[in-house]
Amino acid sequence: MARTMVILGGQWGDEGKGKIVDLLTEQAQVVVRFQGGHNAGHTLVIDGNRLVLHLIPSGILHHGVTCVLGQGVVISPRALMDEIDLLTQKGIPVLERLKVSNAATLVLPYHVALDKAREKAQGAKAVGTTCRGIGPAYEDKVARRALRVTDLLSPTLFEQKLDKNLEFHNFVLTQYYKEEPILKAPILEEAQEARERLAKVITDVPALLSSCYADNQNIIFEGAQGALLDIDHGTYPYVTSSNTTAGGVATGSGFGPRNIQEIIGVTKAYCTRVGGGPFPTELKDDIGQHLAQVGKEVGATTGRARRCGWFDAIAMQRSAQLNSMTSLAITKLDVLDDLKEIKICIGYRIGEKQWDLPPVDSEQLALCEPIYEVWPGWQASTKGIKVWQELPQAARNYLERIAQLVKTPISMVSTGADRRETIIL
Ligand code: GDP
Ligand code: IMO
Ligand code: MG
Repeated sequence: MARTMVILGGQWGDEGKGKIVDLLTEQAQVVVRFQGGHNAGHTLVIDGNRLVLHLIPSGILHHGVTCVLGQGVVISPRALMDEIDLLTQKGIPVLERLKVSNAATLVLPYHVALDKAREKAQGAKAVGTTCRGIGPAYEDKVARRALRVTDLLSPTLFEQKLDKNLEFHNFVLTQYYKEEPILKAPILEEAQEARERLAKVITDVPALLSSCYADNQNIIFEGAQGALLDIDHGTYPYVTSSNTTAGGVATGSGFGPRNIQEIIGVTKAYCTRVGGGPFPTELKDDIGQHLAQVGKEVGATTGRARRCGWFDAIAMQRSAQLNSMTSLAITKLDVLDDLKEIKICIGYRIGEKQWDLPPVDSEQLALCEPIYEVWPGWQASTKGIKVWQELPQAARNYLERIAQLVKTPISMVSTGADRRETIIL
């Protein structure tokens, strides 16, 4: 494996990043999250045992691997401590291997209240967020008023900054949204607990990564969400609030971009999206239901049903370009096993006008009708296949066509949820 590798989502999230990161961590010493927060839900399945991670990097199951949260991550102390407890109860030691950036932004209860209030107020136009407070926390960061991990270490300063934040956010909550205000005491308690439990893991992450790199350690950067949810490049405003694309690795971890060697884009062999927003290849018919059922397409964080559709090569081409992907990891091939024919979107159309690039407006994207090419299905099981040559010819043809359209070679194909159900090319 390359010494430094980025694994990120090429679609609207839930592509199977967790599985791929877990597998590749066999050859790494460090795994780093660089953006997002506990809105992520990354599923690992090892010998039938399922584990969903939200904040802790997906390398945690590998003995001795250092797991890092960079300064681009927004961290809810409560969510982090709960996840540490859950893993510890399962016999997975965390604290001795976890490093948390001193400069990361905190997600606090008023962010969650604001997220929920805003979604409620937007009604039918709601983004469909995970209601974890992620957007409001990033807003505070950009507004330069956020509380950060380092503030946990100075109780007096923490309380002063908290007072200012509560004054402002409670005004918005009560006066604009007509919701209940958020109380200070429980936040101080949460901060106190976090100070006691997490002080030892608070780290200067850029310095740590630079020394790991100098020591020839292999480092994996684990993306959350997907390129089409990127705040700058995604289907705005139906996006998350961070840069999910590869540029975010450098800013979100402090690791210099010149030292990044490989960027693997994870994509499903079809498409899903959870929450609101345009989705040109969405299938609201029996085939969509079939994909949802066979693919068990239920959100790993919120338990919401994921919308399903055909593979969108226009969107994925754009993702490959935005991320300078060196290769693709295509997941959930097995979910297509029973289909008679399989479609790939190779263009969009609004009336007579054709598009070979995604339009920038979500309103316009919502009007786009996909132009499809149709491929024969293989109607045979690919579940658990580990060798490329053992795939049915029609499945190989389909995958090769995707690689050709996305102009990026395939390095991995996933044929089941389990760590071992993978073809490595
Ligand atoms: P992530 O957020 O990108 O890590 O993906 P999620 O964990 O949210 O969603 C991916 C889902 O698909 C999880 O339930 C995985 O266990 C499952 N999965 C991953 N790869 C495969 C695969 O190749 N085949 C099947 N059937 N399931 C898979
Ligand atoms: P992983 O890392 C899929 C979606 C939400 C919503 C939008 C904004 O598991 O792939 P937010 O709470 O971030 O403000 O919500 O982004 N979303 C995800 N969709 N996978 C995720 O993470 C997601 N994280 C956020 O559904 O549409
Ligand atoms: Mg997920």
